Amino acid sequence: MADIDSRIELGLNPYPVTNPELIPAQRYYDEAYFKAESEAVWGHSWQMATRLERIPNLGDWTEYTILDKSVLVVNTKDGIKAFHNHCRHRGVPVAGGKGNEHGNCAKSGFICPFHGWRWNMDGDCTFVYGKQLFSQDLLEAEELKLRPVRCETFGGEAYINFDDSAPPLREWLGPIADALDARLMSDMRAEWHYGAVLPANWKIAMEAFQEGYHVMKTHPQLQHAQPSLYNARYGNDTGGLGPLINPNLDVKGNIAECIQSMELLSAGMAGLVHAKEVEIARKFADVDLPADPVQAMPMWYGIVQDAISKELKARGENVPDLNKVSQEHPVEALQFLFPNHFGLNYFTGMTTYRIRPLGPETCLFEIWSLTHMAPGTECPVPMEPIILPYDSKDFPQIPQQDYSNIPIQQRGLHSTGFEYMRLSKDREGLISNNHRVIDALIAKKPWDKITAATQKLAYNFDGPILELDL
Ligand code: FES
Ligand SMILES: [Fe+2]
Repeated sequence: MADIDSRIELGLNPYPVTNPELIPAQRYYDEAYFKAESEAVWGHSWQMATRLERIPNLGDWTEYTILDKSVLVVNTKDGIKAFHNHCRHRGVPVAGGKGNEHGNCAKSGFICPFHGWRWNMDGDCTFVYGKQLFSQDLLEAEELKLRPVRCETFGGEAYINFDDSAPPLREWLGPIADALDARLMSDMRAEWHYGAVLPANWKIAMEAFQEGYHVMKTHPQLQHAQPSLYNARYGNDTGGLGPLINPNLDVKGNIAECIQSMELLSAGMAGLVHAKEVEIARKFADVDLPADPVQAMPMWYGIVQDAISKELKARGENVPDLNKVSQEHPVEALQFLFPNHFGLNYFTGMTTYRIRPLGPETCLFEIWSLTHMAPGTECPVPMEPIILPYDSKDFPQIPQQDYSNIPIQQRGLHSTGFEYMRLSKDREGLISNNHRVIDALIAKKPWDKITAATQKLAYNFDGPILELDL
């Protein structure tokens, strides 16, 4: 990685954010900016490398790639380890090499496909063909070890960081890690894993998920199902009865509206609100409650959450007590784990996203649908994403709607006269805050400042532009 300070002297952050409400368009396509950003973000951030159910057994490995870097994440007897994926002889990847591959090295170790040198799962070189042909000082055991990459686990996932000076993962994540732990995220399993290559800068793809202000136009079905929620949040009518209550309906009508909204989210995300949770909620469509919706609706949510926790627990699933967890560790509808990982929560289920750049104007967008499963549940682990064209009708409805805007937005950014995105200071703050943390990484600001900011971003979905003290 190039030295960041010298890069700044060379002026290689040509488009810093100077007004937090205005984001320069070039940050989404300019090559020099992309270079500076890539080094700063991917060279120094904790990034989700794999879900752990993909490498459950001793010796299981999977490849993670980020731009020109390839890393092997390996399940070893001493825990999950990661290595730079290059042969110490002449640089060939010792496993995978195409990105996103997996296998098991317990018996065979890693065997370089070029001249057959070998390594065990701990990265020690165990075989060099024709040793006598080399100067012996080139073959020191330490020299031949696979180069380690920092690797830590959280929430059923392995994260890597190329920077040995970065703070530990838990510190990087901050309190959101406790909130996701309380939701027993590490015990969740993926039901499916999709991916799409989007012809857009990775931040454009992410920004479609950093605010809810687009719901009215992009996902009109969601607003129609529960207008009070969206009107209270984005409309002029903010003095209503609160997001759960439609003043034009009685309690039964409000409940029906909530159930319909859950059904739409469940079908539209093929998970998130899991079908099994909707089924439980439906049982309480006619429950006796006070006549006043303001009193009744929070009670109804409490009853439903309690029933979901109890019923799923009775089925053997290790789910949290939702009422307790939502009191003790409240979260937003969406958690943003800087730089590129998202978690969407509703009840016990979760949808996660990971977005990686493939170049300045192309990225890979992956989606996992997670749920708790009772031990012994027959459900094959999705070992690789099903990669679909971004406009495939096989994507669940909601991501399909989001994806439809992303490629055309990327084209719009190139229009003559489009200099800046202009952001809502109240609802599109996460977009700005994310850009400003990237600039702080490029400027090599101290870690305590960076982590204080990354921690705030986790709770910033749909939120305001923040004072980040960077
Ligand atoms: S490049 Fe790997 S053994 Fe030669
Ligand atoms: Fe959306």
